Amino acid sequence: MFVNRKKICVILQLLLSTSIIFIFIVIVHVKKSFSLVSMDKVTPVKDAFGFVNDGHHFNKSTNANTNNVGSFNLDLRIIVITYNRPVSLLRCLKSLNDVDYIGHRVKLDIFIDRSSKSKAVSQITYSIAKAFSFLHGKKTVNVHKKHVGLYGQWLETWRPTEDNKEIAVILEDDITVSPFFYEWLRAAHAQYDARTDVSGYALANVNQLAAAPGGIVVPLNYTAYIYPILGSWGFSPHRDRWREFLAWYDSASIDASFNPYVKGIRHTEWYESFQKTNYQKSMWSMWHIYFSHIHKLYCVFPNLPDHYMFARNHQDRGFHYSGNVKADQVDKLVSNLNWNPDILKMPKNPIKVDYYGHISVG
Ligand SMILES: *[C@@H]1O[C@H](CO)[C@@H](O)[C@H](O)[C@H]1NC(C)=O
Ligand SMILES: *[C@@H]1O[C@H](CO)[C@@H](O)[C@H](O)[C@H]1NC(C)=O
Repeated sequence: MFVNRKKICVILQLLLSTSIIFIFIVIVHVKKSFSLVSMDKVTPVKDAFGFVNDGHHFNKSTNANTNNVGSFNLDLRIIVITYNRPVSLLRCLKSLNDVDYIGHRVKLDIFIDRSSKSKAVSQITYSIAKAFSFLHGKKTVNVHKKHVGLYGQWLETWRPTEDNKEIAVILEDDITVSPFFYEWLRAAHAQYDARTDVSGYALANVNQLAAAPGGIVVPLNYTAYIYPILGSWGFSPHRDRWREFLAWYDSASIDASFNPYVKGIRHTEWYESFQKTNYQKSMWSMWHIYFSHIHKLYCVFPNLPDHYMFARNHQDRGFHYSGNVKADQVDKLVSNLNWNPDILKMPKNPIKVDYYGHISVG
């Protein structure tokens, strides 16, 4: 029984990889024949794509992309950031249609980045975003006016005003979510938003690579725990801490000699090794980790049995389906089959886990 299931998983993964490779080949051909060539000639300023931003963003006059237009009364804003992974994007968007938003007011903002070299926009990604029909609320497709990279995608797409009451969640395009993610997220915000030491909420688990050997083990009678480092596989910032973080980042990042190192953690080692190849531009999170460290902030994580999650990362690299993702991770998304509303009852004092996996009640 178990073996058969594994076999089926392997076959499914093979099929999936094959179809992704096929789509990739098709895309390469389509690209070659017409689309991106003409885009290369379009200068950012005269671009046909409008950057639509519907308010609840504070005025940052240095960034021409950030408009302050009107306001929108929302419960949830979903921000999907993408560049040129149409297959991933579609998978992410489809998972968003399957979510139970319990009748709340939801908006989907898709942000598409440009190539750093040619400034081109992936036409296929844009078409998929445009054509996607979001069943639960308004959708906008925003194309950045210039290349912004992961820093811009994370740090410029949700700049809430002080009176903003919405919950925002930022998803990279290789994430898929559980149909129950919003119910959990809403309950978690309601339970912990009043705390001043919460940086935000994560939909998946702590990156086990970064934790102590053996990973993080939290007793299951604690349905949530807090950890100093954000989980970026579906992150929902705490509005006020996010505003403070962005204001700090905007000024701290001006000093080119400043390094956001936190001594003694793996993330700093990764960041330093990225710096050697000038690849640190992919690790905006180091700044958040540093900010959380100096202000003693924590990210809230759900503590589900058997490491189930409300979001999973497919770890796509460009168009390649990475071989190091275990097929059974697919089964780790909370679904109808294993949803238990008891997870929504979160302890007033969640377990506090330190960088190295030691736990204490806080
Ligand atoms: C944004 O700020 C700049 C400079 O502080 C100001 O000149 C401009 O009018 C502001 N725009 C809006 C829409 O508030
Ligand atoms: C969880 O169980 C432990 C003992 O097994 C107990 O000390 C603790 O109070 C419980 N916590 C909650 C939140 O139920």
